[in-house]
Amino acid sequence: MFELKLLLLLPSTVLPLVIIWGLLQRKKKSLKLPPGRMGWPFIGETFGYLKPYLATTIGEFMEQHISRYGKIYKSYLFGDRAIVSADAGLNRFILQNEGRLFECSYPSSIGGILGKWSMLVVVGDMHRDMRMISLNFMSTSRLRTHLMPEVDKHTLLVLRSWKENSIFSAQNEAKKFTFNLMAKHIMSIDPGKPETEHLRKEYITFMKGVVSAPLNLPGTAYNRALKSRSTILKVIEHKMIERLKETNNDREKVEDGDLLGWVLKHSSLSIEQILDLILSLLFAGHETSSVSIALAIYFLQACPKAVQELREEHLEIVRAKKREGESGLNWDDYKQMEFTQCVISETLRLGNVVRFLHRKAIKDVRYNGYDIPCGWKVLPVVAAVHLDPLIYDKPQEFNPWRWQSKTSTDSSAFSNMKTGNNFMPFGGGPRLCAGSELAKLEMAVFIHHLVLNYDWELAEPDEPRVFPFVEFPKGLPIKAMKAFFLSTFALFVTLSGALKIGVNYGMVADNLPTPDKVVTLFKSSYIGRIRLFAPNPDVFKALEGSRIQVILGTRNEDLSRLASDQSYAATWVNTRVVPHASSIKFRCISLGNEVIPGELATYVLPAIQNLDAALKAAHLMVPVTTAISMQVLGVSFPPSQGVFSDSGIMGPITGFLASNGYPLMVNVYPYFAHAGDPVNIPHDYALFKSNNIVVKDGKLGYQNLFDAMVDSVYSALEKARGPNVDIIVSETGWPSAGNGNIATIDNAQTYNTNLIAHLRSLSGTPKRPRKELETYLFAMFNEDLKSPGVEQNFGLYYPNMTPNLFQKDFLSADGWILAAKTMNAVEEVYKIARAQTLIALCSTVPGYWFTVAFIDRIGRFKIQMMGFFFMTVSMFALAFPYNHWTQKKNRMGFVMMYALTFFFANFGLNATTFVVPAEIFPARLRSTCHGISAAAGKGWCYYCCIWALICCPELG
Ligand code: HEM
Repeated sequence: MFELKLLLLLPSTVLPLVIIWGLLQRKKKSLKLPPGRMGWPFIGETFGYLKPYLATTIGEFMEQHISRYGKIYKSYLFGDRAIVSADAGLNRFILQNEGRLFECSYPSSIGGILGKWSMLVVVGDMHRDMRMISLNFMSTSRLRTHLMPEVDKHTLLVLRSWKENSIFSAQNEAKKFTFNLMAKHIMSIDPGKPETEHLRKEYITFMKGVVSAPLNLPGTAYNRALKSRSTILKVIEHKMIERLKETNNDREKVEDGDLLGWVLKHSSLSIEQILDLILSLLFAGHETSSVSIALAIYFLQACPKAVQELREEHLEIVRAKKREGESGLNWDDYKQMEFTQCVISETLRLGNVVRFLHRKAIKDVRYNGYDIPCGWKVLPVVAAVHLDPLIYDKPQEFNPWRWQSKTSTDSSAFSNMKTGNNFMPFGGGPRLCAGSELAKLEMAVFIHHLVLNYDWELAEPDEPRVFPFVEFPKGLPIKAMKAFFLSTFALFVTLSGALKIGVNYGMVADNLPTPDKVVTLFKSSYIGRIRLFAPNPDVFKALEGSRIQVILGTRNEDLSRLASDQSYAATWVNTRVVPHASSIKFRCISLGNEVIPGELATYVLPAIQNLDAALKAAHLMVPVTTAISMQVLGVSFPPSQGVFSDSGIMGPITGFLASNGYPLMVNVYPYFAHAGDPVNIPHDYALFKSNNIVVKDGKLGYQNLFDAMVDSVYSALEKARGPNVDIIVSETGWPSAGNGNIATIDNAQTYNTNLIAHLRSLSGTPKRPRKELETYLFAMFNEDLKSPGVEQNFGLYYPNMTPNLFQKDFLSADGWILAAKTMNAVEEVYKIARAQTLIALCSTVPGYWFTVAFIDRIGRFKIQMMGFFFMTVSMFALAFPYNHWTQKKNRMGFVMMYALTFFFANFGLNATTFVVPAEIFPARLRSTCHGISAAAGKGWCYYCCIWALICCPELG
């Protein structure tokens, strides 16, 4: 009976609904709405719209709708009729007309969780007041003075906690960073404290609710988030009450160092309003920037070229700071980060942290022939514009260079991008993100420290997805290693490049790589200063725009003409220097290399004067000088007695340099001093290895010969009217071969490494303590056309530019067989084969015997595991104390350890992997599989070799 009544009632309920629907349809027919479909009753197309997708795309839903209806379409979303816009023009129109035609309108669930006074929710005067507070608090002057050092500090705090080679979630680390920063900035709570950690945990629960379905039922994420919200608010309220208590409830007297104090003091907002404002700022400032940083880490790991360019930019900043004697990043440094800004823009464009905004029409609006009825939801989808191929070339590609004006081919598209017309990661109009500058600052500083300190890679595949908040489902697991360049010698030079350390680029060889390759090597090795012995157009061309500073030499043969003919000097400057002066930074020009004493000595000063006049006439402020050897000193020991032997030549030169403020270049070689008198000049003293004072000179004590040699030149300069002339050490180094056990790879490495460490310490010399000494290592490459012997062996690199450590190099690195360059190819093959045979006989073959003897007693599995274990142990034992093994006295130990790895390869995995298949599978199957496996292995080797040769021809 009851069911019957219900059935009768049904038409009376449905009928009015149908009539209202019909009326709405009629009204709609008279309007010209954009095309589209409304989907299911009540839910419309919301589920399709919110279906997760890859963040670097616009998702299947948008793609299908745009291809079917165009960039503006209607739908039914978030419980309302909606107009969706992927159109750049309409998006701008919507955001610019905030408050006039459109109004911010986020779903009520957002208001429910962020609070009714949240900035994302409030409109009108209240929004204006809160916006003023946020803008004032994040003004440029506050960013400069307060936030910049804080951002720097918090970045380092997070990055320094990274454990090398461990795997961790980069997304969580970025969140920790932005949360700590915001918590400090908003409420002055410090990272690591229990209350901060407690708050962070509550905040994570709260965030899960913000992105979940708004179902307030016990146990749901939304319900838990509401509880966390009230816990967080209680903490903030408690802080607020404490502050008010301190001032007897006088808001005027509250300190305004953080946002909480600032709002209490400078606004008339109620406690409830302040709480919601603070929570919404914590939300707005934390979530978006942390995801953006995670996105940058993600995009950059797949784009080494960008990391390389970033490193160059940031190293240059570090170098400049070092020059100025500053530390800690400041606002001026931030403004230097041009390429970093390109990376940030590209990250925001491709990652689209905020994909669309929520608005509603508050009037009937007509746009491009379409009606947008009053009350309808309007969703400007900024991500769709950022990924539009008509606006951005290959939009799915991470290409930070597209933001550099000179590389853009499509000037109209670029100018639009640049002026920000189409680029709206921070929204636009009166609701433009109040923290956009802070967000960019956070990203830039994070990137600065990241690229300078770490190399990183994805530990397992992960990608940013839209849920609709952008997130990495696995948290972006990465493995971070200390940046490679910190651990290699070449890049050791670079960091020191932050100091004034350069390299001599000598070219007396017929097997050197081409200048463009060498300059690429300089760049990748972060060598920021070089010395060239003579002008070279190819080198100049390669150096253009590289930011590498150059000391340029003149050929000794040109000296007499430069000295006697002013017009030749002018021509020399106008043809060799002027054309490159705008693209290459010339540090100084040196006339004559080691020509004093000698028959060319008298030409040096007039040549310097002529060239100086020519440079000044060409309006170039480049110092002019000469490079001397230690031979110019009549006395060099003890250092305080240093004096030039020919004061008639050196006196006037010194006087000229002193009066112009130009430096003197000196070639300082402790090697030659030690090699000439190894008994009286101890090995440790020459190699910076002495722990005690070796030479006492009055009040000064010398622990290394390099300092003593430099100080003897300072003493000579003092006596020759040049006490203020600076010294540049234009050459110093140690040969790696050519003179028995003095010129060895080991000694060369020791000298260079210790020298750099000494220069990096900025301790100066005893005579000029704490004075930075500009120094150029000799030389970049071994030069085969120099006189045989040590002269050919000063190079930091072999001419093939590849410091490889393959198996055969292990043997030579240890000195067990000689380095390849000391013998011909047949000899080399013979010696390597002999060494390998010996190892095979002593370790590989006995390994097989042991397997045969023990396989049935111990068992296959145990032998295999034991083999793995001992191979790992012996490899580690070789790798960790590698320097120890390279010393001559430890040679035998090295060979034993090396042999041991081979022994356990065979008394282990090698034998068992042959034996076990033989026992399990029939011979036919086995031989087929062996064949396939061998062929695949060889095929892959060929493939890699061919590609290696194509990509790096210098290997050939
Ligand atoms: C890369 C990081 C960030 C992105 C992509 C981003 C994006 C946005 C967008 C698109 C809006 C406009 C919302 C709308 O119109 O409905 C917005 C608003 C806002 N953002 Fe950000 N934001 C970021 C970082 C920050 C930071 C660090 C803060 C600092 C607390 C912040 C504070 C705000 C505030 C207060 C608003 C509201 C402005 C208003 O309604 O007047 N944002 N943000």
